[in-house]
Amino acid sequence: MNPPTSLPDRRSFLKSSSAGVASLIAAPYVARGQGDASPIKVGLVGCGGRGSGAAAQALNADKGAVLWSMGDAFESNLNASLKRFQEGSKGESGQVQVADERRFVGLDAYRKVIDSGVDVVLLATPPGFRPQHLRAAVEAGKHVFCEKPMAVDAPGVRSVMESAQMAKAKGTCLVSGFCWRYSKSRRAVFERVLDGDIGDIRAYHATYYTGPVKPMRPESARPGGMGDVEWQVRNWYNFSWLGGDGLVEQAVHSVDKVSWAMGDQPPIAAVANGGRTRPNHEGNIFDHFSVIYEYPNGVLGAMSSRQTPNCFNENADYIVGTNGRCVINGGRVGLENARGKNMWRFRSREDNNMYQEEHDTLFAAIRSGEAPNDGDWMATSTMLAILGRMAAYTGQRITWEDALQSSTDLAPDDLEFGDSFDPGGVPQPGVTKFA
Ligand SMILES: NC(=O)c1ccc[n+]([C@@H]2O[C@H](COP(=O)([O-])OP(=O)(O)OC[C@H]3O[C@@H](n4cnc5c(N)ncnc54)[C@H](O)[C@@H]3O)[C@@H](O)[C@H]2O)c1
Repeated sequence: MNPPTSLPDRRSFLKSSSAGVASLIAAPYVARGQGDASPIKVGLVGCGGRGSGAAAQALNADKGAVLWSMGDAFESNLNASLKRFQEGSKGESGQVQVADERRFVGLDAYRKVIDSGVDVVLLATPPGFRPQHLRAAVEAGKHVFCEKPMAVDAPGVRSVMESAQMAKAKGTCLVSGFCWRYSKSRRAVFERVLDGDIGDIRAYHATYYTGPVKPMRPESARPGGMGDVEWQVRNWYNFSWLGGDGLVEQAVHSVDKVSWAMGDQPPIAAVANGGRTRPNHEGNIFDHFSVIYEYPNGVLGAMSSRQTPNCFNENADYIVGTNGRCVINGGRVGLENARGKNMWRFRSREDNNMYQEEHDTLFAAIRSGEAPNDGDWMATSTMLAILGRMAAYTGQRITWEDALQSSTDLAPDDLEFGDSFDPGGVPQPGVTKFA
């Protein structure tokens, strides 16, 4: 797959990298298969719902995988996750070896997990931290499973692109959490679409209509003395610097499929609407987006998302080609000809567990010494969602090139729990400026 137009190629990356990176590439790490019996030590960063699931899938993927260390911003979240592993509801008992001294709490827990002697790091915190965590893991020569989205702003995406190039140069694995790419049914249908079974793609319409995802408690419930940063991290979904907003955090799965169908080539530009309709809604995110991505030759990608209760829910993909149509809606995955007649259907009972497949791929690669790297397309898909959010926040038509070069960094990397931090108000189209 081709990288986006402005992704630095390896040569320009080498030129522009720091001396540290350059020397690392001058003496490349030679990836070696880890044999069939030796333990593969896994470190989990972010022990919430997805992180715990990913760690269970890692243990399931390889009987030699061992959960070796865990890190979370909050002790209670780490303990709750660890307890489920220790009680045997996830993984086999011998595979859980998180000694007391390898349980790390706080915003610097990721570094301690990375330095705890692990081979693989699973990154599953809120995405605002991902570029920093990914860089540290790749620099330390770890194999990485990296949940989506990979960043929340353009500087973050540029950092992820560099980290992905570093992982390639080192020969370490980088597997993304864009799970549909690991689904048997979606792979089968996208292979057919990309092979031209419905002709040339003219338009893609994706929907992601759900209820609120992680609604926050009102500011009045904030315990006295709790700093801004801790309060916001505890309610991360509702702050764009941490979660990226609904289009980037949740609907990015659909945006990723749009990008997949377009051959992972970036669009020319995007125009979007968005806003929030729910009163007394805390945080600074929107609750609906409607984006049109303009691709070459007049091809349009439309992404519509909503996180409002008591409305019509749907998560579907409709791809219109010159000779037919592709419809993906839950278990319905198929192609129709131009007269609406079924041409091909995926039998849903033949589908796989895409989350498990991600880890089966990662651990088989570690064993064999291969180095899958999802970096190029995972960065493109993340940036595509950020571009849509930028267009909605500002009310402007924004080009891919401008978006990718954006200097807007939503938060510094060195915040601490006690810090005061103004996350910014709710953006206002026509008033909020692109930068
Ligand atoms: N691929 C998928 O289908 C899928 C599904 C759900 C979530 N996700 C992604 O997984 C990530 C986590 O989502 P979740 O639903 O598990 O959220 P969650 O709130 O359940 O878990 C996040 C955990 O990270 C911890 N955390 C926050 N900041 C941290 C930091 N700086 N260092 C260490 N730990 C930190 C939190 O305390 C919490 O325990 C998000 O990026 C989300 O988009 C992906």
